[in-house]
Amino acid sequence: MCGIVAYLGNRTAFPILINGLKRLEYRGYDSAGIALYNDGELNIYKKKGKVKELAEHARDKEVAGTVGIGHTRWATHGKPDDINAHPHRSGNGRLTLIHNGIIENYELLKQALLKEGHTFESETDTEVLAHLIEELQQRDNLPIEEAVRIALTKVIGAYAIVVMDKNDPDKLVAARKASPLVIGIGDEEFFVASDPTPIAEYTQRVVFLNDEEIAVVTRQGELQIKNIGNEVQTPFIQELDLEIEMLEKGDYDYYMLKEIYEQPRTVADCMRGRVSAAEGWVRLGGVENQIERISKARRFIVAACGTSWHAGLIGEYLFEELARIPVEVEYASELRYRNPIIDENDVVIALSQSGETADTLAALELAKEKGAMIYGIVNAVGSSIARITDSGSYIHAGPEIGVASTKAFTGQVTLLTMMAISLGYKRGTIPRSYYLQLLEELNNIPAKIERVLEKTNDKIEYIAGEIKDATNALYLGRGYNFPIALEGALKLKEISYIHAEGYPAAEMKHGPIALIDENMPVIVIATNKSAYEKIVSNVQEVKARKGMIISVVKEGDTVIRDLSDYTIEIPDTDEPLTPLLSVIPLQLLSYHIAVMRGCDVDQPRNLAKSVTVE
Ligand code: G6P
Repeated sequence: MCGIVAYLGNRTAFPILINGLKRLEYRGYDSAGIALYNDGELNIYKKKGKVKELAEHARDKEVAGTVGIGHTRWATHGKPDDINAHPHRSGNGRLTLIHNGIIENYELLKQALLKEGHTFESETDTEVLAHLIEELQQRDNLPIEEAVRIALTKVIGAYAIVVMDKNDPDKLVAARKASPLVIGIGDEEFFVASDPTPIAEYTQRVVFLNDEEIAVVTRQGELQIKNIGNEVQTPFIQELDLEIEMLEKGDYDYYMLKEIYEQPRTVADCMRGRVSAAEGWVRLGGVENQIERISKARRFIVAACGTSWHAGLIGEYLFEELARIPVEVEYASELRYRNPIIDENDVVIALSQSGETADTLAALELAKEKGAMIYGIVNAVGSSIARITDSGSYIHAGPEIGVASTKAFTGQVTLLTMMAISLGYKRGTIPRSYYLQLLEELNNIPAKIERVLEKTNDKIEYIAGEIKDATNALYLGRGYNFPIALEGALKLKEISYIHAEGYPAAEMKHGPIALIDENMPVIVIATNKSAYEKIVSNVQEVKARKGMIISVVKEGDTVIRDLSDYTIEIPDTDEPLTPLLSVIPLQLLSYHIAVMRGCDVDQPRNLAKSVTVE
């Protein structure tokens, strides 16, 4: 939610900020703004809409200056318009500030500032913070970093901020609490951003700021970090491993399509060095390090949101079937507020692409307090969730930029599958022969995903054309394909704005069946061997009500094909591995429908990729 970028150095800041905002646009895209300091002047340009509209707006303006801050917004307080867009100024115009997060006590602070004579232009909590810092700075004639520090002791909520002071322009002050911030260290230049993507093309040396830390970077090349208690901290400098090509769309029309097509490689990357079918081993460093605690856990609790929650649900099927460990899958936002029963015998598994989702982070903090072990399955290296866990594994999917998650989902499922197979074998709940068979088949999955992509895309595009005008859609699946039904429905909703619901196929009888008529596409994921006859009956029930049946089946299936209006065939695999194949056609289906409906596939309305507010 909201992207932040700032620059201080010898280059012209404007293009760095605009390009940085484009890279961060997945975090929010309802308005954007830039502030530049040049020759005693502070120039601020803000525009409702996307970054390209800001760039257009600033085209004939003064954009000189080698220090500046930029912001792309996902509105929380105040509607998306030019005035509420960041950066915000303090009352005397001396300070300008960008912010990601929510200042929860902003109304109280605002009332106090109004009494001091402050007036406000926008409806945002951020402007209140700018005024508060100014008030403290003026009152005691404080250096900007000290005013920021004291102001932050008065703030309740989440923030990542960067502040620029017109009277001290060779300096930027940045701070974070519960919203991410990373500092890039270049050659006589500094970058500050919400994530490393705007920084990677200039430097690979970065410092991830910790909660309640305040960093000051200066034109003289100094970087100083203090905590909110005013104690100096030693910066931990890390090397990124982020190539610029990973951040580009290449020949694809959309990032989402590129990311769908990357999956044969990303799933293989997730397994690389972790599985050998030939030698019969699967090794996950994070699991091995904590094997005692993990394999003896009384239960696993998965905490996640959105698509990651769907991956977690597949984890439940995998762990319970293969490793016989009881699993609960929780929406992180519910878990954190319902005083759950968690103790030191539990392992809480956090699933998160971004590693920054506010609710997931908060749920983990709660579980940690209660003594549970925290295991993270994360994509974004160095992210907050990756850093607070006791142990964990990266999925190595590379940057995922399309807001609708695809390759991160299959990465998460691959990781959970490896974990479940490994634990099943170690705990003696699967025989060696089945263990070896699953490893062998896991090895075949990247090639099978490739085959799904090659063989089904054209047909799916055709089917998309047939159902693109539907107003509702129903996705049905059983067993491992039930979470896939949920995920298929979510993908469709997210990017094409068609209302869709995922249901366990048999549950359809308890409600959604009332909605079925000839205008309702029903997407049935029916690759299971177990309960196959049951799902055939469910398909019959839909057919009897004239629903339009689109089925995803195993290659060679004729029974369901004969009942369906359209059939998509995918290769056979062992049932626990099915989700890795059956989700692919559903990703493609939602993609093609969204394109045909003229939707912005990569930046669907109202959504953001990294949800750092509750
Ligand atoms: C947002 C994104 C989803 C994502 C969810 C959880 O809603 O749009 O794609 O699944 O957040 O994010 P996480 O980064 O924790 O996986």
